[in-house]
Amino acid sequence: MAETASDLSPDASAEIAGALNQALAETVVATMVAQNYHWNVTGMAFGPLHDLFQAIYEDHFTGQDDLAERVRAIGETAQGRLAAHLERSKVQEGDESAEDKEMIRHLAEAQETIGATLAGLSEVSARHGDVRTEDLAIERGRIHDKFAWMLRAHLR
Ligand SMILES: [Fe+2]
Repeated sequence: MAETASDLSPDASAEIAGALNQALAETVVATMVAQNYHWNVTGMAFGPLHDLFQAIYEDHFTGQDDLAERVRAIGETAQGRLAAHLERSKVQEGDESAEDKEMIRHLAEAQETIGATLAGLSEVSARHGDVRTEDLAIERGRIHDKFAWMLRAHLR
């Protein structure tokens, strides 16, 4: 087990940072998706959806910071450009004029995509004995599972 970040080999740090930056890119894009939908959602469920989308982007904003600062703590560079995030992310931007159910579906899929990326981060971290990054990946994964459930509960 790597007792501190400095126990990680350069190759291990680079591989873990690659997985962290992937999760970071998708979390950044999902933050914007949730804020877009917070602003533009319409319909009879406007109030609760406006609030839920806000809870999601506020969580994701914190999540971005935790992922990026873990990249720095293991000695690597946190990706910091929007264009690079968009190019790398498997989560795509949302449509401002989408129907409310389409917004919910897209955002639920985004949660699941990020969850899968975080599962990969867990695996890479565990393989290198980096339990602290693994812990972050598990914690973030649990949060994305919760939001995926909350969103999907609207669709039945
Ligand atoms: Fe607002």
